[in-house]
Amino acid sequence: MNGAIFFSGRYGSTEQYANWISEATGLPVFDIKDPNADPTEYDYLILGSSIIYMKLSIRKWAQANLSTLKDRSKILFSVSGAGPSDKLDRWVAKSLPSWLFSQMEHVALGGRLDHTKVNWLIRLSLWIGSLINPDPVASKEERYGFDHVDKDSIEPILELVRQLEHSEVLG
Ligand SMILES: Cc1cc2nc3c(=O)[nH]c(=O)nc-3n(C[C@H](O)[C@H](O)[C@H](O)COP(=O)(O)O)c2cc1C
Repeated sequence: MNGAIFFSGRYGSTEQYANWISEATGLPVFDIKDPNADPTEYDYLILGSSIIYMKLSIRKWAQANLSTLKDRSKILFSVSGAGPSDKLDRWVAKSLPSWLFSQMEHVALGGRLDHTKVNWLIRLSLWIGSLINPDPVASKEERYGFDHVDKDSIEPILELVRQLEHSEVLG
């Protein structure tokens, strides 16, 4: 059984997790923007996506690859400022067709926001967002940035990969 990691991110944290998972599992890793990235070549897929404005950034790619995704085992990891919560689950679920989301194992990972890496328009939108965010912790993070990236948090994904590989050995 062969698998691969496909990720969508802009500022490096989703890519960092994808590379850590690749190092730990030996699976190849592709940026979805890579024209040579072909998910049809693999039996199972690990999809990694940042959350931007309450949506998965991989959603359009997922929509364009529905028939490939349908018949394969899938693990999804999201990377965001918000920690695991009902709110985050709702954002992820709403980014994908419900049948597709129900077929996925979802693991929520902590992201990073460094204001020196985003352009002024995004900084401004984050600052305005922080003014109206009712959650004081999230509001502060939106305004000043945060770093929740943690290598150890990929362990549940490695465990899911072990289960997939093991079920193949048994099957
Ligand atoms: C423009 C922008 C919008 C964001 N919107 C959200 C959001 O709605 N919810 C959230 O939890 N995190 C949000 N974040 C935080 C990102 O999910 C976090 O920075 C993530 O690590 C980005 O992944 P990347 O480094 O792979 O691009 C936002 C970040 C940016 C720059």
